[in-house]
Amino acid sequence: MKVLRTPAELRAELAVARSQRLIGFVPTMGALHEGHLSLVRAARSANEIVVASIFVNPLQFGPNEDFAAYPRNEAHDVEQLGSAGADVVFTPALDEMYPPGRSTTINVGSLGEVLEGAHRPGHFDGVCTVVAKLFNMVGPTRAYFGQKDAQQVAVIRRMVRDLDFDLEIVVCPTVREADGLAMSSRNAYLSDHERSKATALFRALESGRSRLIQTGDVSESEKAMQEVFAAEAVSPDYTAVCDPDSFGPLDPNGPVLLAVAARIGRARLIDNMLVTSADMEGVARGAPRS
Ligand code: PAJ
Repeated sequence: MKVLRTPAELRAELAVARSQRLIGFVPTMGALHEGHLSLVRAARSANEIVVASIFVNPLQFGPNEDFAAYPRNEAHDVEQLGSAGADVVFTPALDEMYPPGRSTTINVGSLGEVLEGAHRPGHFDGVCTVVAKLFNMVGPTRAYFGQKDAQQVAVIRRMVRDLDFDLEIVVCPTVREADGLAMSSRNAYLSDHERSKATALFRALESGRSRLIQTGDVSESEKAMQEVFAAEAVSPDYTAVCDPDSFGPLDPNGPVLLAVAARIGRARLIDNMLVTSADMEGVARGAPRS
């Protein structure tokens, strides 16, 4: 496995593979766990060359967020990526990624302004800008993302479509701890007490999902999620029941995304669960939220 640090080295290394469309790509911010590694394994199984990146992207952090504190452990991450089957690890320095004088950003419009975007202004502009740059540097045929960040997936799909990136987005299921907590680099911020409270996100989603299937009623489903948080004295940033692609009102026959975000101690955590059209078959749906 090679570890490369500049876009120029990366382009030289990948020139042949990209022209032959052999590359699977997994972008990350490091502090790797099984969720990240599942993406690398998925890429390994379907591509000749697997490239993973580690770059903690300042553009996607707000001024009061955890950019400086974000866990960094490059040596450990590189080792893990090697064992999971990566061929190339790209870890650019800040000024290689963003040379002085850069000013272009990508804005996906209203899709990036709801839910996470409403709580983290500019976050998805930062995500899209770095992902677009990485796509241009790597030239992948397939790029792998986790369902854990459902809105990120929707935003990147929109960007790929709107800007004609010639690649396929592959979405992999959320990897969870045994008690349901979605794996996240930010789980490292949790104390033991907070760690057990943090299962509220998964429990809220399960409860919201079964209430939705029982009643077909969006507001009942939201209420079920809020009850779980209230029992833990956690006040969530949102408990949403929405369309998985537009993050807006539901398609009356389509799938439903339940999405939650909450701050537990120092960690701001997000999670989501998809309720498929098959799950909802035979359920009389209440009036969708507008
Ligand atoms: P990061 O949070 O490091 O996540 C990298 C990838 O791992 C994302 O696609 C994310 O959805 C996926 N992932 C995280 N936790 C997961 C889990 N429990 N199960 C499955 N997949 C999981 O997302 C980012 O970095 C950044 O925004 C990035 C795309 C790299 C741009 O900077």
